[in-house]
This record gives sequence, structure tokens and C-alpha cells, in this order.
Amino acid sequence: MQEIWLLLTLFFSFCLYYFLKNRLAVFFPSSKQIITVVMEFADIKSDDIFYDLGSGDGRILIEAAKKKIPVVGIEKNRFLNWIAKRRIRRLNLKNVRIIQGDIFDQDINEATIIVAYLSSGLAHRLQKKIEKEVKKGTSIILIDHSFKGWKPIKERRVGFIPVRLYVK
Ligand SMILES: C[S@@+](CC[C@H](N)C(=O)[O-])C[C@H]1O[C@@H](n2cnc3c(N)ncnc32)[C@H](O)[C@@H]1O
Repeated sequence: MQEIWLLLTLFFSFCLYYFLKNRLAVFFPSSKQIITVVMEFADIKSDDIFYDLGSGDGRILIEAAKKKIPVVGIEKNRFLNWIAKRRIRRLNLKNVRIIQGDIFDQDINEATIIVAYLSSGLAHRLQKKIEKEVKKGTSIILIDHSFKGWKPIKERRVGFIPVRLYVK
């Protein structure tokens, strides 16, 4: 009997995790391993402009900023922005700008590298925005989702989370 309750608890925990992560795009920070893959795929050059769409606590922004290029985060959650700004200030990184707001209200046209770790619904909306607004040659690194009809240049799994590199 106890085993059944344990299995049910595990099942409902997984359902809740899946719902929060994929439907609501709440804050699920990238692991160190994911960030390593993101940075490898980004292959940052000195003239790049790096965007993290839904930048959370700033952990990806910080890694990109260490490469001394302009880095922009867009994040709607005030508390996460406060944490990110505090961490960035402590590291004295002057090349990071964080925009408080909705990704879909912002102009992302200057980006040459875009990273996004969102819900499947938001990834779909983002695909449309990128198809309309972003210039050719921009690298898009998508964590956990895919763009319909686009073929990734690179793809790697970190545990069960896929990371894909697309070039527009
Ligand atoms: C899965 S977390 C990823 C955080 C960070 N990029 C990372 O990889 O560690 C997704 C983030 O996107 C933010 N977010 C979701 N929808 C957003 C929107 N429409 N505009 C701005 N931020 C959004 C959430 O608040 C959350 O911090």
C-alpha cells in the first residue's frame, strides 16, 4: 500500500514539475552543465551582442559578460532582476543591461546571439518573433524546446534536457 502512495506522489510531483516548467515558464535555472553547452554553442566573438530572453537570476548573462561583449537580459520578474543585478554588481561587470519587462514587448533586433529557456508555448511565440524581427545569421540557442520546421546546427542533451543551436 505504501508503495502505491509513493508512486502516486512521484507521479503527481512529475506532473506539477512538467506543468510549471512547460506551461508557465516559471524560473527553472540552467544547470552548470547546460551553461557550459550554451557557451560552447554560442562561440562568442568580440563583435557579438548576446541576449538571454527570460534571464532569471542572471547566471547565463554573467558567463557571457565575462567574454567582454555587450550582454542584455530581458526578464519580467522583478525579484529575479534584483538578484541578477546584485550578482552582476558584485562581479563588477559593466557590460550587462537588464530590461525589466516582457520579451514580446522588446526589440531584439540588435542581437547576434539569443538564448532562451522558456515554456513550449512561449518558444512557439518566440519562433514567430525571431522569424519576423531578427537578422539573418543570428545564432539562437534554445534550451528544452525546438523550432518547428527549423533544423538545428548542433544538438546536445544534458540529462533529459536538449540544447539546440539554430542559425537564422
Ligand atoms: C526556465 S527560466 C530560465 C532562466 C535563465 N535563462 C536560465 O537559463 O537560468 C525562464 C525565465 O523566463 C522568465 N520569463 C517567462 N516568460 C517571460 C516573458 N514573457 N518575458 C520575460 N521573462 C519571462 C521567467 O520569469 C524565468 O525567469
